[in-house]
Amino acid sequence: MYNFVYQNPVKVIFGKDTISKVAEEIPLNAKIMLTYGGGSIKKTGVYDQIKLALKDVELVEFGGIEVNPHYETCMQAVELAKTEKVDFILSVGGGSVLDATKFIAAAALYSDGDPWDIIAKQARVKKAIPLGAILTLPATGSEMNGNSVITRVSSQEKMAFSSPKVMPKFSILDPECVFTLPDKQVANGIVDAFIHVIEQYLTFDVNSPIQDRFAEGILSTLIAEGPKVLADRKDYESAANFMWSATMALNGLIGAGVPQDWATHMIGHELTAFHGIDHARTLAIVLPGVMHVKRESKKDKILQYGERIWGITSGTDDEKIDTSIAKTVEFFESLGLPTTLPEYDVDIDTIAKITSRFEERGFKLGEKADIDFNEVEAILMDRL
Ligand code: NZQ
Ligand code: ZN
Repeated sequence: MYNFVYQNPVKVIFGKDTISKVAEEIPLNAKIMLTYGGGSIKKTGVYDQIKLALKDVELVEFGGIEVNPHYETCMQAVELAKTEKVDFILSVGGGSVLDATKFIAAAALYSDGDPWDIIAKQARVKKAIPLGAILTLPATGSEMNGNSVITRVSSQEKMAFSSPKVMPKFSILDPECVFTLPDKQVANGIVDAFIHVIEQYLTFDVNSPIQDRFAEGILSTLIAEGPKVLADRKDYESAANFMWSATMALNGLIGAGVPQDWATHMIGHELTAFHGIDHARTLAIVLPGVMHVKRESKKDKILQYGERIWGITSGTDDEKIDTSIAKTVEFFESLGLPTTLPEYDVDIDTIAKITSRFEERGFKLGEKADIDFNEVEAILMDRL
């Protein structure tokens, strides 16, 4: 196992009727900016619950944060946060609202130049307005990490930054929020969380059996509980298990001390940037290609995954790897996510654009930093 430092300061408040506890968590006498998305919180009643819980608090609202949040929108919120001199930001929504909130919190106090540098140049975030989250959609793990993914519309770029300074002070996770999610968002959430685990697990062995077993536990739980949530949206227990799985998938625990891949995400972000495809769907397309192209260097872990998760024990190693890929694809498709590029009307021209972007950036992806633009092309060609 590699050396590691692990610190996760996020206070998680999990369970039924927890939204009303928000008033106990925000700082006394603080001016709060409430950030939210396209209005789902008003339809689901979450907004009313918060307004009631915070009736004695000074609130400024910033709504309209879009899915795959835009830098341009975030900068409007930064202006508001500055003019109103807000002390704390409360994010209410899914990963998009929370990621936007993290960027707003950092950009509002950034004084070293253009705030886009936080993302484009990975400029260090020295301080940020403190923030908290009420999470309404299990998927990203953003509620318990310091990551944020932002899209700049003007340049069709979707990129991430990460800083401990933007980790939420608290995250309220009420599984009943799952009850109002459309099928598509539930399915996306299951697949996003599943692939977060895969990115930290399907690499190479460093003798880390605890991380492996944690990872396999989350994968198996998502496979067992995810379909139950899709079948019955009011099944509280399954919703709770799904929600906690998604948080555990990307809160740093399973990734501590082990190699990490993230190629699927990096390539997937380009599909969202150019075609607006939902984040999880891009991953469902790309992952089978990564498994296929990297079948030699990931061999031992793919065999372990196949056996422990899907019970694949017969055949040659190559056959077992093929079956593991097929079972993974079958799982995503059973949830309603198509896994090939033509199903999203993406053709070879986009593959060329993405490939040349990776060539220009000179990125080498994957746990061994050995996926160059040629391999990116091979991965995407596998999905045509
Ligand atoms: O915008 P509103 O009106 O709130 O509606 C949202 C949105 O349309 C709706 N929704 C959320 N909660 C709901 C609900 N509808 C009904 N009932 C509820 N309880 O769902 C839609 C999707 O929301 P969004 O926040 O975009 O989804 P998700 O949580 O999947 O977030 C996706 C974003 O997170 C980034 C992705 O790239 C993408 O931009 N990621 C962030 C990560 C992180 N911070 O660690 C890691 C991930 O890999 C991912 O990249
Ligand atoms: Zn993801």
